[in-house]
Amino acid sequence: MSDILRHVDNGVMTLTFNRVDKKNSITAAMYATLADALAQAVDDANVRVVVFQGHETIFSAGNDIGDFLNQPPSGKESPVYRFLRNIASFPKPILAAVSGPAVGIGTTMLFHCDLVIAGDNAAFSMPFVNLGLCPEAASSLLVPQMMGYHRAAEALLMGEPFMAEAALEVGLVNRVVPPTEANGVAQQQARKLAAKPLSSLIETKRLLKGGQQAAVLQRMDEEGAVFGRMLREPAAREAFGAFMEKRKPDFSKL
Ligand code: COA
Repeated sequence: MSDILRHVDNGVMTLTFNRVDKKNSITAAMYATLADALAQAVDDANVRVVVFQGHETIFSAGNDIGDFLNQPPSGKESPVYRFLRNIASFPKPILAAVSGPAVGIGTTMLFHCDLVIAGDNAAFSMPFVNLGLCPEAASSLLVPQMMGYHRAAEALLMGEPFMAEAALEVGLVNRVVPPTEANGVAQQQARKLAAKPLSSLIETKRLLKGGQQAAVLQRMDEEGAVFGRMLREPAAREAFGAFMEKRKPDFSKL
């Protein structure tokens, strides 16, 4: 079975992370599938709303760390950057249902979603510093805008998880529900949206984004250049090696 499931029903395209044995960590092939699905949905009249979902125990453990080690993304045409550009510029509403851990891009992609429904077990984290990396997905711009500088600095410098209730408080999440209900509630909301006039949804989303798109894409490019360099540097190599070897990283000489 595919690691990304794509399903279209009543105007709602649902993209499901389906690699639970590896905690829904995202490989280059999965990013490519997601990027293509979004690109194709822009002009597909059958798709009015998009939903991202995972499993009730795990949304996504972020980028596949083996991929980071063995085939780090390079350049703007790499699948991860195509996915990020496509989600950031997608004109129709995007929802996410998040239960369990949402690590790295599992959290930063949510800043490009319009509604987020969380299971009460959702744990959001952006541990880029702990991996010898820097923010991506324009999170260095969008996280402080949403949370305020100090909470953003705590989330991005400490990299520790924050739970669904804290995410609700800062506005990253619209609703907290039992984990078994998150996907269903997101589907209900998506179906409500899909029944509304598409042109109004698109214009409203565009106006809500307040002409910020160019700044978001520019910040993604800036972050991407640094991230791409840091992926190949000793701190990140030590962090990835430690994860694969199931040991604590040693940054004492870095
Ligand atoms: N990349 C590749 N494999 C991953 C992964 C990732 N990001 N996250 C988890 N896995 C794999 C583990 O290696 C393990 O594989 P194995 O069974 O072959 O040994 C399997 O998924 C289960 O992971 P495990 O760590 O045992 O599960 P857990 O429930 O104890 O912890 C997480 C879940 C998500 C908290 C933990 O897996 C984690 O922190 N993952 C890394 C997250 C990360 O740093 N992502 C990069 C962000 S930029």
